[in-house]
Amino acid sequence: MSQESRVAFVTGASRGIGKAVAIRLAKEGRHVVLASRSEGPLSEVKAEIEETGGAASVCAVDISDRKAFAEAIEGVASEQGRLDILVNNAGITRDNLLLRMSDEEWDAVIETNLTSAFVAMRAAARPMMKGKFGRIVNIASTSGLVGNSGQTNYAASKSGLVGMTRTVAREIGGKGITANVVAPGFIQTDMTANLPESVLDSVKGLIQVKRLGSPEDIAAAVAYCTSDDAGFLTGQVIAVDGGMTMC
Ligand code: NAI
Repeated sequence: MSQESRVAFVTGASRGIGKAVAIRLAKEGRHVVLASRSEGPLSEVKAEIEETGGAASVCAVDISDRKAFAEAIEGVASEQGRLDILVNNAGITRDNLLLRMSDEEWDAVIETNLTSAFVAMRAAARPMMKGKFGRIVNIASTSGLVGNSGQTNYAASKSGLVGMTRTVAREIGGKGITANVVAPGFIQTDMTANLPESVLDSVKGLIQVKRLGSPEDIAAAVAYCTSDDAGFLTGQVIAVDGGMTMC
């Protein structure tokens, strides 16, 4: 089996980091299944990939709908005859200070960012075991490593991904399946587009390379973690943050 014939499932692939990851994996020859809520934007990414000779298909699914999401992953594995790579990238923020955070804000973020990754890994594990190969990458955040004011829910979800990923790495490492976390710092996407200039300036002061990251910076790390070459890398957390959280 060559790296080029592998099938990858990427959530949140309609824009931002997920889109960059999908384009990068397709460029390296993988068939990429682009998942997100609505079909329209995904079809545009699919067309972009196909224009450059890549292969992709579209999977419109709400990852917070556990049943639909698991069925979507199982469906892809059965249609494609395999599933090699899973990138749990889709995520949301519902920021608020602890004293003001509602149960709804807590639940929405935990369900979308954390529970969905559990559902996806559980559904993907079987086809990966059958293929005796798997590469799982969960996209966390530096917020989950060092905390961030106003993000109790988000930091908990991202920190939860770390423990969950390491556990999965232990459980199924013997089956040729690796599981790692990529934790982005501040990346220029829609998620950070509305931050005030003053916040961006102070953030840049903390980043050793003196710029925000690009979605392509994250895609490069995911490309390595999901490559055939990375079979000895598992249970790790790779902070791609321009040196912001190094100690
Ligand atoms: P974005 O907001 O630009 O894109 C999020 C993607 O997830 C979109 O495709 C959206 O449609 C999809 N999505 C959201 N909820 C969904 C649902 N219920 N079902 C299906 N799809 C859903 O976000 P961005 O910036 O590209 O972030 C991607 C990941 O990276 C997220 O997990 C985020 O927490 C993480 N991250 C981003 C950072 C940044 O600075 N942009 C920093 C650290 C982590």
